[in-house]
Amino acid sequence: MTILDGKATALKLQSDIKIKVEEHLDSGGKRPHLCAVLVGEDGASQAYVGNKIRACERVGFTSSLVKLSAEISESVLIEKIESINKDSDIDGVIVQLPLPSHINESNITKTINPNKDVDGFHPYNVGKMNLGWDTYLPATPFGIIKLLEAYDIDTAGKHCVVLGRSNIVGRPMSILMARKASPGNCTVTLCHSRTKDIESYTKQADIVIVALGKPEWLKAHMIKDGAIIIDVGISRVDDSTAKRGYRLKGDVHFEGVSSKASYITPVPGGVGPMTVTALLLNTLEAAKQKEAVAL
Ligand code: GUN
Repeated sequence: MTILDGKATALKLQSDIKIKVEEHLDSGGKRPHLCAVLVGEDGASQAYVGNKIRACERVGFTSSLVKLSAEISESVLIEKIESINKDSDIDGVIVQLPLPSHINESNITKTINPNKDVDGFHPYNVGKMNLGWDTYLPATPFGIIKLLEAYDIDTAGKHCVVLGRSNIVGRPMSILMARKASPGNCTVTLCHSRTKDIESYTKQADIVIVALGKPEWLKAHMIKDGAIIIDVGISRVDDSTAKRGYRLKGDVHFEGVSSKASYITPVPGGVGPMTVTALLLNTLEAAKQKEAVAL
């Protein structure tokens, strides 16, 4: 069994990005700039955005964090995004999700300029991804693709079962794994909360990608020997013996499942750091694209 070390892979890719930033600056380019918008005080969202900002610093990007109150109205948030769209110094913008329930997420994602949409959530970019065109890919699925690529895992012809149909992970993941590309070329089954007898699918899978947000949900008896397991879950589970009062748990019961899997991602240190790296790759691309247009 091989552990897919997302942390080490991410650091290697980030050092390559850092070199590309320096080359970009040497050839007269501008430092890539990511702007992150955080609405409210959710602890997990604050932690994710903090990781993204620190990663920007590591690779030599400029970053800015716009912190807004949870009570902000949808129209004021839209105005804020419109002003970021107009700011020519900013190459990429993300609005951390989830948003407070009084704000309609679709209205926000469609406001972001598609050229700056480094999360790949704008309907224009989702459409391009569906067509197999070049575009910004959503960070978590893109990060998983980069991890499979880094370990040279041959996915062609394999049965990939994706668990979860969110717009952020499950749905785009299913599209990318089925795409005519490497990694890709899988036969894909997308399972969700209304799937009957989910185990009958996971037991057949060569690759299982779990994005349900249910701690330790996938058990050893639910997979076949030698399966490749990608764990997207990251839940805070109360634990009074832990320093912070909680532990991070994935969607996979690691101890049991790792004894049967051929490859498995740990939590933490698996998909999470790859998600951040994918966002950096998209931001570098956005900066380069913008300058290519300006030439
Ligand atoms: N919330 C959970 N994952 C993501 C992500 O990839 N991007 C944004 N903007 N919010 C998220």
